[in-house]
Amino acid sequence: MTASAYKAIGILDSGVGGLTVFQEIIRQLPHEKIIYFGDTARMPYGPRPDEEVRRFALQIIDFLRNQEVKMVVVACNTATAAGLSHYRAHCDIPVVGVIEPGVRAALTYTRSGRIGVIGTAGTIRSSAYQKALQEARPDVHIIAKACPLFVLLVENDLVHTPEAEQVAEVYLAPFREAAVDTLILGCTHYPLMSDLIQSTVGPQVQLVNSAEEIAREVKDILDKQGLHNPLKCSDPGYRFFVSGNPHSFKEIASKMLRRHIEAYQVLL
Ligand code: DGL
Repeated sequence: MTASAYKAIGILDSGVGGLTVFQEIIRQLPHEKIIYFGDTARMPYGPRPDEEVRRFALQIIDFLRNQEVKMVVVACNTATAAGLSHYRAHCDIPVVGVIEPGVRAALTYTRSGRIGVIGTAGTIRSSAYQKALQEARPDVHIIAKACPLFVLLVENDLVHTPEAEQVAEVYLAPFREAAVDTLILGCTHYPLMSDLIQSTVGPQVQLVNSAEEIAREVKDILDKQGLHNPLKCSDPGYRFFVSGNPHSFKEIASKMLRRHIEAYQVLL
């Protein structure tokens, strides 16, 4: 065990999407302190060029390092696809991304080898999922599609509307037609609308939410590096920072996490 073990885990995303990863990490690692950053002023990341997303992610990583975190979880597929290796090279602490864990989970689920991938424009354009799937199993048949409006539906709390149903139908009908048996939710916002996605593609399709795998990877690193928080208190402390309006984030996050949270605005 090192002195760093007492420090928090840093998690970043463009908005509330990374909270799906936060939730799973606190479920598997209930004694860890967490500092969460949602870059809500610059969300969505999906349509932005890679270089810009990388710059934003590095700014947030520096903010988290100034808060003395022991590890960073890039809980954003777009930011992971744009430059995980850059973030790792930039830091002397472990940095976990979200693409590899999703690929691993999808390959354990699929029976037919027909896998769908949905994500932001940046993630799909990067082909990060397509390449990783094909490298691991060259015989898989992959259908990938960007679903840019999904992030906006989630961030604006519009998932339970008829308009959301129509958007889902337009984006997801091709996966039904292609008879995929597994669909990777390649954006951390999408698990927040998984009921709608599941009912649109049909119950025979296994949805892959990589949060569980990511939390397991975080746990493995804590195990291997002796970084588990030695203080076993039931309320280790969670802090939330955003670059935009803290009130709307606080509302959506409190509803989603079913606990009252405070969020503070930080100008990067
Ligand atoms: N939640 C993020 C992702 O996993 C980013 C969504 C966005 O800002 O476009 O890709």
